[in-house]
Amino acid sequence: MRINKLFGTALAVALASTLALSGCGEQEKQLIRMSHSQIETHPDHLGLVAFKNYVESKLGDKFEIQIFPNATLGANEKVLELIKQGSVQYLVVSTANIESFDPLYSLFSIPYIFTSEKAFENFITNPEILEQLSVNSDKNGFYPVASFTAGTRNFYAKTPIRSVSDIAGKKFRVQAGPTNVAMMQAFGGAATPMSFGEVYSALQQSVIDGAENNELALTDQKHGEVCKYFSYDMHQMVPDLLVVSKKFYDGLSADEQKVFDEAAKEAEKAEFAAWHKRVGEAKKQAEEMGVEFINVDVNEFRNKVLPIHQELLNKTPALKPLYEAAEQANQAQ
Ligand code: GCU
Repeated sequence: MRINKLFGTALAVALASTLALSGCGEQEKQLIRMSHSQIETHPDHLGLVAFKNYVESKLGDKFEIQIFPNATLGANEKVLELIKQGSVQYLVVSTANIESFDPLYSLFSIPYIFTSEKAFENFITNPEILEQLSVNSDKNGFYPVASFTAGTRNFYAKTPIRSVSDIAGKKFRVQAGPTNVAMMQAFGGAATPMSFGEVYSALQQSVIDGAENNELALTDQKHGEVCKYFSYDMHQMVPDLLVVSKKFYDGLSADEQKVFDEAAKEAEKAEFAAWHKRVGEAKKQAEEMGVEFINVDVNEFRNKVLPIHQELLNKTPALKPLYEAAEQANQAQ
């Protein structure tokens, strides 16, 4: 984080240049910047590598893709501004980070909205859903073009959470957004929203007692070095979306748009395949780090937070069609 601030000005200057000379001739290529917050072995990164390979195999004479991992261009909330301006073209971002731009994305923060991971996966890969989420793109300045799975979100902490009462009085890092704060309150804990990159040191310095995420946070972000208990309460399934700058995308020709859309689908496929492979490996790796995985009574957790569904639908009636589509996806399983 500190590094991002220090180099903020230099970065802005560097980002102003979007043209690069191609190696062989004088033809200029447009640089496409893709940003994400994960390490280079993470499924999100591998999805973007598939995207890069696809675009460069079709349009390599015109475009050069650069992937920036580890939030080197800034935390997601900041990069969304750069996406809006068009100086960064693509970003992988959790829907929780877009909630403040557009409440439609709060759908995925509703705890236990999906009753199975299969229903969640079918829902997020349905192109009609991405279309419904795009209705405010003029205002937002981006379109969602692919969905990446991030599995289920679960609590992990320095002390075991075996029932909801073990959360009481403890501070948990959550992703930004009012739904997450409401959820933590309903569970009886205190919500401490912060950026992903800040969580490790907050855990180490005991600013927080725990966090909530998928298994890969334990290994890739090293949270498992500090938190030795991970409880499968599965309170949320929150996708990472690949979003494209509207300013950039609208400036492409129809043929180019087609290639970039196909590349987004390639990225989605590659990410899903990598995710399903990596999640088991991460669990094993975390066990080797000394993390205990705990199976809890999911119904006990679910019952605590179910009232949030109606509260959120009352607050944001525009969510209703998407909420109903999620119910249908659940029923289809
Ligand atoms: C997951 C998700 C990220 C998100 C992170 C978080 O790792 O893939 O997109 O930023 O959780 O909790 O902030």
